[in-house]
Amino acid sequence: MDGLRIRISLPRQTLELHDRRGRLLHRYLVSTGAKGAGEQSGSFQTPRGRHLIRAKVGAGETANAVLRGRRPTGEIWTPELAVQHPNRDWILTRILWLSGREPGRNRLGEVDTMRRYIYLHGTPDSVELGVPGSHGCVRMRNADIIELFDQVPAYTPVDIVEFGVEEGTWTELGALAGPVRERVFVDEQHVPKEMEWDEYDAVSRHVVAIGSEGKAIGTGRLLPDGHIGRMAVLADWRGQGVGRALLDRLLEAASQAGMDRLVLHAQTHACGFYRSVGFVEEGPEFMEAGIPHRMMVRLS
Ligand code: COA
Repeated sequence: MDGLRIRISLPRQTLELHDRRGRLLHRYLVSTGAKGAGEQSGSFQTPRGRHLIRAKVGAGETANAVLRGRRPTGEIWTPELAVQHPNRDWILTRILWLSGREPGRNRLGEVDTMRRYIYLHGTPDSVELGVPGSHGCVRMRNADIIELFDQVPAYTPVDIVEFGVEEGTWTELGALAGPVRERVFVDEQHVPKEMEWDEYDAVSRHVVAIGSEGKAIGTGRLLPDGHIGRMAVLADWRGQGVGRALLDRLLEAASQAGMDRLVLHAQTHACGFYRSVGFVEEGPEFMEAGIPHRMMVRLS
């Protein structure tokens, strides 16, 4: 399928597969580097940032087939084999080999994901997922890596991010979402306070992106009538996929609520951002809180 995207959240230890319109296709539990996040060769850490699938290895192998140097050894992993080789880092079933897309961050030189042989790969059933435990790779259940492998073509984008997204009510998330909106809309964009805070927060579903140490870095909301709004990412975090992750989660909430028509008032500079998940402009430009906007609509 065209336009698929993978997002791996290090704090959540999850891998999400989304389609071209942002729709969540699968969410899997994974295990990333026990030593945390990092790009340096020899660090045994999981690299961050934009990547893509460089090569797919292991098509047609049975589940638990052992791979070494990206070739099947002919062995099938069993608990008995594991006892015989207690120090082996088992790479099983399939490999999706990653390459960095950000020169200087995760590509070339001493920070090259591809030359570090960072893979998404199958792992023994006895290995715990949902907690970091690998030597830098992304471990997955064998059935999950087979399912993922069969769906994603080479060059599928893979973002490895250091935030997770929470969804909830204003009572649950307001204390986190409020300060982000205050910073972005009131301080930065000079939206009058009395316009920023309205009666719709209490009845909306909210999403908040949470970075390391529990810090809120972005937010958005979905009204009961299918209106998406208040999308805001802290300035230092823009352009790193936070907005997209928030939007994906709002689309998931809308789909769960059975909403088939979503509407938003986009600041004109952000129209491209919403277009990228299937929103289209409708009607003329108008002013709201002193900022030019367009109405945009997305049908499911
Ligand atoms: N115009 C066009 N495309 C944009 C864009 C913009 N203003 N902002 C992001 N994009 C694209 C990115 O290039 C990216 O595409 P890619 O993955 O193909 O490269 C995609 O949209 C997702 O970008 P992402 O990094 O997730 O966006 P972000 O975290 O910077 O969040 C906003 C986007 C608009 C929420 C953020 O810039 C923001 O908070 N701005 C200030 C508040 C604001 O204006 N809110 C919008 C109210 S309508």
